[in-house]
Amino acid sequence: MKYVMGIDLGTGSVKAILVNQTGRIMGESSCAYPIIQKKSGYNEQDPELWVTQTIAAMKELIQKCNVHGTDVEGISFSGQMHGLVLLDQHRRALRNAILWNDTRTTEQCHQIQQALGGRLLGITRNSALEGFTLPKLLWVKQHEPEIFQQSDVFLLPKDYVRYRLTGQLAIDYSDGAGTLLMDVANKTWSKELLQTFDIPEHLCPPLMESTGLAGGLLPEMANKCGLSPEVKVFAGGADNACGAVGAGILSPEGTLCSIGTSGVILSYEENRNVDYKGQLHFFNHSQPDAFYAMGVTLAAGHSLTWYKNTFAKEQTFEQLLAPIEEIPAGAGGLLFTPYITGERTPHADSTIRGSFIGMDSAHTQAHFTRAVIEGITFSLRESLELLRNTGKSIHTIVSIGGGAKNDTWLQIQADLFGAEIVQLESEQGPALGAAMIAAVGCNWFSSLEECARTFIHKGTPYQPNSRQTNIYNDLFEQYQSIYRQTHELNQNLAKFR
Ligand code: XUL
Repeated sequence: MKYVMGIDLGTGSVKAILVNQTGRIMGESSCAYPIIQKKSGYNEQDPELWVTQTIAAMKELIQKCNVHGTDVEGISFSGQMHGLVLLDQHRRALRNAILWNDTRTTEQCHQIQQALGGRLLGITRNSALEGFTLPKLLWVKQHEPEIFQQSDVFLLPKDYVRYRLTGQLAIDYSDGAGTLLMDVANKTWSKELLQTFDIPEHLCPPLMESTGLAGGLLPEMANKCGLSPEVKVFAGGADNACGAVGAGILSPEGTLCSIGTSGVILSYEENRNVDYKGQLHFFNHSQPDAFYAMGVTLAAGHSLTWYKNTFAKEQTFEQLLAPIEEIPAGAGGLLFTPYITGERTPHADSTIRGSFIGMDSAHTQAHFTRAVIEGITFSLRESLELLRNTGKSIHTIVSIGGGAKNDTWLQIQADLFGAEIVQLESEQGPALGAAMIAAVGCNWFSSLEECARTFIHKGTPYQPNSRQTNIYNDLFEQYQSIYRQTHELNQNLAKFR
């Protein structure tokens, strides 16, 4: 039997899975790494730790599954998007990576918008947002000019790990799109953008398809991972593109709700000319010549983790979430906004912060927990509404990640989104998408759709309850008013952070 390995380089940890030719998950292994937060709004990681932890996870996986390394035919990657890794001529990382959830670049976003106006949207199909790579590149150019001068090439997180394993530089279109330097429809680096910001072309790594062969493992790395140097390494994709692949979002009717550290609502797009006016992200899919539109809640799973670590450290997530089933929709008039690290969609605002509104002395911890879960889901509904407002009728949504691990939360999604929620059997998130990319790269299947028919199995769906949906529709208006009413207040509070 032959195997493929899917590796998802997440924000908190790297996860590797091994899958056989029938789509059976043989095992998984994961290793964590910390986020470095020097100031409010700063989020960095040490790229070297990604490499050591990825190798550790791969090695552990091979041992755990008790397979011969030579039977692993292909590997591919999914990765946290947008993060900037700068390498010098000797291919050494010049500084910590600046991550997707780092919001220090508001000023650079204004500069980009001012310099390009409507051209930016025309070329990159996206607005300038703090999380994207170009603003980070400009921040380094302006604040650390000596580092920018020594930079020979930039990479995104998974591309750096793949480079270290193969010795070959590459980036795929789905991650290239998130740099804000790519002409999304034409799948090339934009000369106009590079010239406008005086960024040398050699800084951009070669672009390729997700299923493109990016090289083999360097012998020394193969040895460390317990694999053969003959194993084929495929480019892979952005974590959201891979999450979509792993959830079978491969045709126009597909919509995904994915809750990891961030949360996204993502919808498949065939039409490269569809115009979301920058309100939603529009990126290349890992499926060749397809795209997706996406709204992002910056702190989705992160809000729940923060809440648990701050107020219920001694409890497990299961213990914390168990009582929320008993609490009615609306958490007894308690609303939470998950803006604890700023927000992206629909409010691109790095200074907004979260709120609990409506606290009552009758509320228990379970009310607060339910409010957090509902607040994350309300925020995702805002992205869903942007999609629906363009005329898309979305009646079924596949749910993956943390939000799909709890029955009550799945039902809340169905009620609050007013849509059928589909759960996957043995869901593996973006790592499965990466494994599917490797399986197609190895020619086990002729396309990702064909692979999906063997690898993906849907579970029993959750149907919306119209009574609950009506309550949530009413509450959604109150939820939306919190941003308007706390925006200025949070700007005034920013200086105290
Ligand atoms: C998407 C985004 C996040 C990260 C999380 O634009 O910034 O969803 O990809 O890893």
